[in-house]
Order: sequence, then structure tokens, then C-alpha cells
Amino acid sequence: RLLAICVACALLSSCDDNDTVTTVDTLAFNKDAYVLNTITVDGSSVSYRAYTNIVYVDKPTDLNYQYMNIYVPTTLVDNQTAPIFFPNLVGGYRPAKPLTFTTTAFTISDETDRTTSAAVALSKGYIVASAGARGNTAEVNGVYTGKAPAGIVDLKAAVRYLRHNDEVIPGSAEKIISNGTSAGGAMSSLLGSSGNDPLFEPYLKEIGAADAKDNIFAAAAFCPIVDLENADSAYEWLYNRVNIDTDSTGASVYGFDDTQMEISGELMALYSGYLNGLALRRVDNNQPLTTANMQNYITSFLLASAQEQLNKGANLADKTWLTVKDGKATAVNFNAYLSYVGRWSPIKNPPAFDWLGNPSDPAPMRPGGSFENNLFGSSNTNINVFTDYVANRLSPGSTVPQNIKDRVYLMNPMNFIGKNSATLAKNWYIRHGTKDRDTAFTVPVNLYTKLMNTGLVVNMNFELGWERPHSGDYDLAELFAWMGSITQ
Ligand code: DHB
Repeated sequence: RLLAICVACALLSSCDDNDTVTTVDTLAFNKDAYVLNTITVDGSSVSYRAYTNIVYVDKPTDLNYQYMNIYVPTTLVDNQTAPIFFPNLVGGYRPAKPLTFTTTAFTISDETDRTTSAAVALSKGYIVASAGARGNTAEVNGVYTGKAPAGIVDLKAAVRYLRHNDEVIPGSAEKIISNGTSAGGAMSSLLGSSGNDPLFEPYLKEIGAADAKDNIFAAAAFCPIVDLENADSAYEWLYNRVNIDTDSTGASVYGFDDTQMEISGELMALYSGYLNGLALRRVDNNQPLTTANMQNYITSFLLASAQEQLNKGANLADKTWLTVKDGKATAVNFNAYLSYVGRWSPIKNPPAFDWLGNPSDPAPMRPGGSFENNLFGSSNTNINVFTDYVANRLSPGSTVPQNIKDRVYLMNPMNFIGKNSATLAKNWYIRHGTKDRDTAFTVPVNLYTKLMNTGLVVNMNFELGWERPHSGDYDLAELFAWMGSITQ
């Protein structure tokens, strides 16, 4: 943002040609404003400059979140080509602070610390830039500040800040690699798919974002919770079959009542129309992807994941749903596999996402609504229904107001992949665990497939992470090997 300040006018309330006009860049990065720190990663020490609390927009609405931290290895302070690792800590579509280190000794194999990836990045020659972002529960003076699309708008604004200051901030803003998990994985996927799309412009203007591009080089996404408008129907299409599962005593595992069973069935029935409408083609054989072959397609990723373990010498005999012959994973009993994974009850009872909950819901996750109901509230409304199915179910004949639909649209990377007005990241790393039941396996599979179907992705690395539950930043050695391969 360039602010022309006419120094003399302020005094004389008139301007003439002789007045001094000073131009102030209110979003300029100050390269001198850092403290020096040192961490160790696997025993080797890494010194870095910490630039913290940088407000990345001119007109912030919530200073609890709209700032970023930038960490620069001392070896790179004069380097303008190094890649920039851009991790977000968004989870549950809640607001998130930028990443800060709270310890000094890291090991790459430590998957419990959410800052390990950033520490490893510094040790491997990356600049780290982490932005905070508003989210569903953010509130200032009784006004909600972070309802959709605020979170993705903030991350885009931070990317714009990096580009705006590219000549001063070490590293290259053309080499930004975003990383996030779950809702943060959705944010990473949105950054990667919706670059520069004009639909975000009014929101970016409103908060005074830098006038710069916001597309990124690469998106890494662990268990991205995307495609929210279709996630309920995808979940029931996959898990409806386990609704009748019983335990060893013969009792129903889920205990759904008739209404829940009916909702599950109705949502399941909506899925094929949606999937056909996507008109995706399988990456492995170029056949149209439909509900007739989706199970087989998911199985192919499952078998590949199992095979990777077998190749490392793992014994998978306890996986009774898996057939292994002569060291090869050959088949999956899919219904048995889904019963083994199980749907996440009661959190993902039907409908799994657009769910207003009931008084017996476990606090504090769903006191009157899901993360997503909470996301699609407005500045003065905490929760909203966001699918027509649920709107109609609650009040026959009603649909979701257009204003909410528009914001739901902006939160879904599937809507931007391959769209002419959006700049797509050319590099993608997507993981979803084989034991992750926070969303249906079809969701990451469709994300991967839609990306590949554009023909625009140069490097794709998609796998189902063996036996991983809903989690992220695992196998960091693998992630960084991939990052190294796309940036060399
Ligand atoms: C997250 C998990 C969910 O089950 C969900 O619906 C949305 C977000 C998360 O962990 O970020």
C-alpha cells in the first residue's frame, strides 16, 4: 500500500508544486527488526533471525491473528532464491496464531510437536513464514471477525505481503510452499487452487491487503477437510453400510434411530449425481470415475499404501480385511475395511458436517453445531446451516441463502481447480490416513483426481498414509525429500 502524504498540505491545507510529497509504504518489511535465535535439529545447530508480530494488512479487523512470523536462517539473510516454507496452524476452522517455537531441540522424527516441520525447514535451507488467520470462533467486542472466508483471505493477504516485499525479505516469493493439516490442509489446498481469483478481491481490499499476486508454488495438505458442500453425502455414500454394524454382543455399534438412518440413506443417494457432475477421469486408467468404480479406485490407493509397508518388511497378517499373497497386497474386503475404520460417532453422525447437534453432543466440540456450521456464521450470527439438504430437512422448502452459498463456494478448492480465473500451484503433496474418518476417502481422492485431470500439475505426490489417523506432518523425511525435489 502506497500512501502519499503531502507534508505541506497538512499544514497549509492546500498543495502547490513546491510541496514535498513523501510516499510511505505502510506494508514495508523492516529487515533490521529481528532477534537472533538458535535451535538444534537432530543435534546440528541452526541460527536464525526471528521477525515476529508483523501485521500483514493495512486494515486488520482482528490483531489477535492477522500477523505473521518470519524466520530466516543466518546463512540465508542475503539469499533471494531460497524457497519459503509457509505453514499454517489452522485446525477445526478455528482461528490460528502464527507458528512460534517453544522449545529449542528438535528431531525430524518427532511427530508430536507441530513446529517440527518449521524447524526442519530452517535446517534444510528454507525461509519459514507463518501467518496467523482468523477463524470460526474469533471475536472482537462481540462481533465475529473470522467467519468464512476470513481465514483463507488472511492467508492470501500474507502471501501478498511476501510478494510485495519480495526484494527485501530473503528467499523467493515465487517459491512459496504452503503446508497445513485438516482445516489447515483445506487452507493449503485453497491457496494452491484459487491463486489470484477475483472473487476474493473485495475481501482482500476490505482488510487492506497488499496489491500483489497471491498464487503459490506448491501446496502440501495433510487430511484436507475440503468439499464441505458435498462432504455429508460423500460420508454417507461411504459409511452408510456400517450403520448396521453390531459389536460382539450383537448390540448396534452406532445406535442410530430411524431419523438418522433415513438421513444417512437420503444423503447417500445424492452422491452419484454429484460425482457424475464432476466428470472426473481415473488417473490410473483414464476411465470416468463413478460410484460404480469409486470403491475399486480407493482400493488401489489402499493396496499401494499396504504394499509400501510390505516392501519395508511389515507383517500385516492382523489386517484381516487385506489379502496378501507372496508378499503382494492383492485385495481388500472393502466393507470389512470400513467397519475396521468405523465412522466417527457421535461427532460424524448423519449428517456428518452440516449438523446442528443436540443437547447430548459432547462438549465443547459441538455446542449447537459443527466446526463448519460455526465457520459459516456471520459477523453477528454464530452458526448457520450451509447445505440445502439440511435447510430443507429443518424447514421443508427452504434453501441456504445465496450470501451463505457464496461463502461456502469460496472455502472449497474443488471449485477453483482448473478455473481460468485462478492460478493453480504446479506442485502438490496430499496425504490422508487409512484410518482417518474425519471425512470420506472420496474427498482427498477426488481432490487429487481433479488436480491431475487439469493436466497442469507438474509434480503430484498423493498417498493414503498407512494406519494414520486424522493427523498431519508425519513422515517429514518424505515431505522434505519431495520439497527438495521440486525446488532443486
Ligand atoms: C477438522 C476436523 C474435522 O472433523 C472437521 O470437520 C473440520 C476440521 C480439523 O481437525 O481441522
